[in-house]
Amino acid sequence: MTSLYEELKKYSESGIYPCHMPGHKRKDFGYFPAGFSSVDFTEAEGLDDLHDPSGIILDAQKKAASVLGADETFFLINGSTAGILAAVSACTGKGGRIILVRNCHRSAYNAIYLRDLVPSYIWPETVEGLSIADAAGTDEVRAALDAAPDAQAVLIVSPTYEGRLADIAGIAEAVHERGIPLIVDEAHGAHLSFAEGSPFDAIRNGADIAIQSVHKTLPAPTQTSVLSVKGDLVDREKLRRFLSIYQSSSPSYPFMAMIDGCIGYMAENAGLVPSLCDNFEKLLNRLEVCDKLIFRPSVTELKEGRADYGKLLICSGSSGLNGVQIAGILRKKYGIETEMACPGFVLAMFTVCDDTDGFDRVAEAIIDLDGSLEAHGADTADEDLTNGYPKVSGIMNLSDAIDSEKEDIPLERSAGRICGSLISMYPPGTPILVPGEEISEDARDFILNCISEGLNIKGIGDGRISVVKNG
Ligand SMILES: Cc1ncc(COP(=O)(O)O)c(C=O)c1O
Repeated sequence: MTSLYEELKKYSESGIYPCHMPGHKRKDFGYFPAGFSSVDFTEAEGLDDLHDPSGIILDAQKKAASVLGADETFFLINGSTAGILAAVSACTGKGGRIILVRNCHRSAYNAIYLRDLVPSYIWPETVEGLSIADAAGTDEVRAALDAAPDAQAVLIVSPTYEGRLADIAGIAEAVHERGIPLIVDEAHGAHLSFAEGSPFDAIRNGADIAIQSVHKTLPAPTQTSVLSVKGDLVDREKLRRFLSIYQSSSPSYPFMAMIDGCIGYMAENAGLVPSLCDNFEKLLNRLEVCDKLIFRPSVTELKEGRADYGKLLICSGSSGLNGVQIAGILRKKYGIETEMACPGFVLAMFTVCDDTDGFDRVAEAIIDLDGSLEAHGADTADEDLTNGYPKVSGIMNLSDAIDSEKEDIPLERSAGRICGSLISMYPPGTPILVPGEEISEDARDFILNCISEGLNIKGIGDGRISVVKNG
């Protein structure tokens, strides 16, 4: 079967004159990558329609589904964000209840708002010695299902932003016992579909819907994602309707071609994921010479399947440096930009596109950095601010809080008030406070502390927080 890209090129070379959108008329203007416009189409005759596919797009999506082990796969041209909005909307009724892990992406909260849902949270354990939220455990999911028997769906994240993995099969079994669907936000795990026999590949291990950002861990451009569905617990027509609502009515053909191309490329290159695993393990082994910085996951954690290959947490250890400082040195002295830095660690990401030269460069930089540091005796890692986000309680419905009249007040004086907007640390963008929740003293102090550490807190402007008026 030809690729979508080949079909687009064929059309482009057919001599048909475009009296239709896009306005660039397939010409180059110097401010697009050369050749981009030649395959940037609209739904012209023969080019199919993402919102009602029956031709080349349907073929490409079917091919993707067969590679990914799904019944159906849908291309997402505005990221996993659209997929999460559509999945949550399709699996619930308006005003219904959803169980979700607290460290879900903001799109999950936006879906709750749009569908006026009632959330029941799973508060994941903190990872030992690391103070980041773990993936949801099966027992936690079972407890949440017992506490919320009217839940219509369960949404978990695996891998998490920091690479923690959930027991998909165990959780799927627990969720299916209640006859409801399991949605897995697998935005950080598109590569897992190509790790043969992986127990963490969501769709092949029992998820009803998995949403994967191909752009995050595979060779594909930003905004490209897929949503895959399996089994009969999801109303497919409803899912299609919501995908159509949340996705652009002018979907990008280059994006769709690159999703198709990326999945085809990964399927043809079965060695890529094993070689990422191999290189990542070798990196961890090499870093064992370091005696100030510490690294997670350990090789044991990888082998035991608690953490994903590719997410390296470079922790302060006894270096006397915090994560933000380590990231600064890696950038300025070694020309290495990392994914995220917080007081306790730096997150460096590796994908199937890192070759051995890339791994060597990072290993040499970290070893050199570690060698240049003075040991500071005891572990000097700051009290990590991601350490168990404060547990808060909702006292007002999320949608009502967003729609209510609000006022901005100084954060210092906000304890006891009802939060009016989503407050999150970015990256990864998971919430500290959700609209409708009480701003406890702990939550207020936590946010103040994050700000004083220079962390990027979304939802606070000039030290002021939006609260429900008279709330
Ligand atoms: C856990 C998680 N889910 C979903 C998303 C949204 O993905 P996208 O950027 O593809 O819309 C992100 C983005 O960072 C994320 O971290």
